[in-house]
Amino acid sequence: MQPSLAPYPALRLRRLRRTPAIRALVAETTLQPSDFIWPVFVRDGEGMVEPIASMPGVNRLSVDRVVEAAREAYALGIPSICLFPYTDPSLKTEDCAEAWNPDNLSNRATRAIKAAVPEMAVMTDVALDPYNINGHDGFVEDGVIVNDRTVEALVKQTLSQAEAGADIIGPSDMMDGRIGALRNALEAEGHQDVLLLSYAAKYASGFYGPFRDAVGASGALKGDKKTYQQDPGNSDEAMRLIARDLSEGADMVMVKPGMPYLDICHRAKAMFGAPTFAYQVSGEYAMIAGAGERGWVDGEKVMLESLMAFKRAGCDGVLTYFAPAAARLLNG
Ligand code: PBG
Repeated sequence: MQPSLAPYPALRLRRLRRTPAIRALVAETTLQPSDFIWPVFVRDGEGMVEPIASMPGVNRLSVDRVVEAAREAYALGIPSICLFPYTDPSLKTEDCAEAWNPDNLSNRATRAIKAAVPEMAVMTDVALDPYNINGHDGFVEDGVIVNDRTVEALVKQTLSQAEAGADIIGPSDMMDGRIGALRNALEAEGHQDVLLLSYAAKYASGFYGPFRDAVGASGALKGDKKTYQQDPGNSDEAMRLIARDLSEGADMVMVKPGMPYLDICHRAKAMFGAPTFAYQVSGEYAMIAGAGERGWVDGEKVMLESLMAFKRAGCDGVLTYFAPAAARLLNG
């Protein structure tokens, strides 16, 4: 706020809002397709487009369809796609070995996209939950989610994703020490250019419900994730997590969920100045898409307004299921 403003009528702030041209001239924030990372759900099979009931407009796609979708998204100006596998229940085990299978669904999709659209940045997810019989992001021993043994598995998962050609790896597991371990392993194995986008400030949130349906983890999950994901009331803790992950070798950091945590986005960007992303998660998507479908809000308007809010809060970009729809509108 300026220390002193001219009094009315010398100051008429509405002059700055009179026409579209003047409004465009003084716009403080812009939103464009290059701000988006598009999360997609991959399933096995061919020619498959399977709707997800709790996320209207979002489908699970087989690898051939994901490749097509990636090509279209890149043509719309979206620079990056993020893969989440829907894993067949028969592949979920206690030891989570499917997570580092070189031919698992995520790695097959990565290779197929990199072959078809090599310019597009492929992001993959590191955490054990899609492969874990109990739905947790880490190994469970006597009811406790164990840290260090989980980190060893995350290293194997990360290296298999880097081998498959992932450009950006997103550890979403919230274990301690994993960024340093992953960075060292990538460096040692010749993957020094692979980026780490750390899910640094990830809250134990009710907004992940539709995602757990989408990847088939809802039934599997026993208990909650409060011993590794953050308490929604904590803000200083988020700054400590981000500082720690940046110091261990994260290139970029994420705040998740997005809309309820814009204060965290703002604080993180102001404090560290690092590339900062928000994840507008499945529950946020479902609220906007669901209300839009019913005509309770103008879905397109609310979508763009919500995405602009991330930029205004200081984010460099946003992971959003709306990416293609928003890019189409923004491209006119
Ligand atoms: C799990 C993971 C989750 C999401 C991304 N990775 C869910 C969870 O932590 O239970 C949620 C994304 C969304 O809701 O859109 N590693």
